[in-house]
Amino acid sequence: MIKAVIFDLDGVITETSHQHFEAWKAIAHMIGVEIDSSVNESLKGVSREESLKIILAHGGILGKYTEDEMEKLSFCKNEYYKQLISQFTPENVFEGVVELFAFLRAKGIKIAIGSASHNAPALIKAMALEEYIDYIVDPSEVKKGKPAPDIFLKAAEALEVEPSECIGVEDAIAGIKAIKAAGMYAIGIGDAEVLKEADIVFNSIAEIDLSIIT
Ligand code: BG6
Ligand code: MG
Repeated sequence: MIKAVIFDLDGVITETSHQHFEAWKAIAHMIGVEIDSSVNESLKGVSREESLKIILAHGGILGKYTEDEMEKLSFCKNEYYKQLISQFTPENVFEGVVELFAFLRAKGIKIAIGSASHNAPALIKAMALEEYIDYIVDPSEVKKGKPAPDIFLKAAEALEVEPSECIGVEDAIAGIKAIKAAGMYAIGIGDAEVLKEADIVFNSIAEIDLSIIT
């Protein structure tokens, strides 16, 4: 029996990949690295620190910067990203999300956000979704980011449910791997060819077949 659904945020609840990409592109350009949308794909679901390492590796300069310098670059990226998402409102919520949250609430199924983003609480507030959410994982409280299962396991523990009683919803390959490693049922949102490891894939939240949840 399903007792909780744990949602990723970026790319599942709302579209932020464009803003993450814009912010990374600016920082990368500053240090002489150009990134395109294929690099952006590999950043989805990946922590800020890991994302910077992927960009540096792409530019062939991994190892060039000290930990302190890398922290400053990540800080700058986040400051720019926060500016780009500062205009978010309930209008940014993907179609079908509020209806799905209301459906889960009515069924007594708990809802958590299992995102790698430190900006998740601010976005949830800006999009007026707080009333639906039982728990938001703080990524700094877990040892390993996605594809490790830690974020999803932390949500299950906080909601006091077993992983086998949870469904995870993700748009990124790293996220699907994390859900499966946590021993949960994985719903992929996006391209079934890309999210091969998911148990089932839908094009969008609005298309989820509710009979698989209840
Ligand atoms: C994930 C995004 O949800 O959060 C990644 O898909 C991002 O692109 C990661 O790097 C960390 O987010 P933030 O907002 O803490 O930098
Ligand atoms: Mg995502």
